[in-house]
Amino acid sequence: MAKNEKLAETMEFPPDTPQPNIYPLSWVRQTGKMEEVWASAQREQWDPMKLSWDTFDPSSYTWEEREAIAYWWTLLSVFDASAPPVFAQALIKTYEDHEEDPVRRCFFSVVRDEQNHEQMCGLAITRLLDHPDALTYVPKSELGKKLQRNARWLYYNGSRYWEGYKKAVPKYSLSVLFSSFLMGEIAAATIFHQMAKGCDEIVFQEAFKHIGRDEGRHMAICMALMERDYPNLDDEDRETITKQIRAGYLFLSAVLYEPPTEFWDLPSDFIEVQRQGEAVAREAGFGIPDSEMKLENWRRAMLNLKSVLDRYDTPFPAIPEVGITGKEVSDVDMDEIIPIF
Ligand SMILES: [Fe+2]
Ligand SMILES: [Fe+2]
Repeated sequence: MAKNEKLAETMEFPPDTPQPNIYPLSWVRQTGKMEEVWASAQREQWDPMKLSWDTFDPSSYTWEEREAIAYWWTLLSVFDASAPPVFAQALIKTYEDHEEDPVRRCFFSVVRDEQNHEQMCGLAITRLLDHPDALTYVPKSELGKKLQRNARWLYYNGSRYWEGYKKAVPKYSLSVLFSSFLMGEIAAATIFHQMAKGCDEIVFQEAFKHIGRDEGRHMAICMALMERDYPNLDDEDRETITKQIRAGYLFLSAVLYEPPTEFWDLPSDFIEVQRQGEAVAREAGFGIPDSEMKLENWRRAMLNLKSVLDRYDTPFPAIPEVGITGKEVSDVDMDEIIPIF
């Protein structure tokens, strides 16, 4: 066939379109729960720039306090600043897979929410440090210097998983991806509600309330999809999920508890420095839960997730760190993880 020959001149209907193609021309609505979540996402939209910033005066804090609170936001950014592209990739997948219309909308809402969370991190850090970049900022206190070194190591570690994620997305079904998403969302929903209660600053209370609510919705999205897809999982998917949960635990522990050395490549005084920073921030009225609370929180999130997976006969990995027995997973590979926040 000549290059410029028009098929339309030779046949009445075009040949089949090769799949997957990016645009579904269908708007099937089956999962009612998704419609509800989308409706609340529309209702609960917020704008980080419109919070009560005028009540926030960073100069009422010492530089050490400002740097300690900014460190926590930086730690959160390591996860939340990667969330928009990570979920955008998942959103594209819902289009390629010709997912239901409400599923596509729900993923779109997650991208938007995570962008808000990232903006919030930036707004807080910029005001606290009077500088828009956590890594090029010149620390003023001794603690600030040590915290920035921590931040650099976190940043380096977090960067390692993007290539792996990009490879994982086309390889796995959405239902496998959800299991990793879900664990982040369960834990995130709890921690932000605690932070909302524990912070003195109005603007932080407002932000954490919104973020906690968003994360709760993300959790509901994952649950609805699992309910739909998990009854039909094959054994290979189940095995991948078990591995991903273990990987997710190791990855997310850095923000939800403390980074395990098994996975994170960090200096030996990292945790000690982080604890010092958190103590200063807490003292200044920024209510980060202490290690015991974090651990309990994390354990509860894991048990929650376990009860979901048990329902669908998917083995849960052993997580001895929080006292959960289960299937031993030893070969967690940085190249293959999907966890997100
Ligand atoms: Fe988030
Ligand atoms: Fe989220």
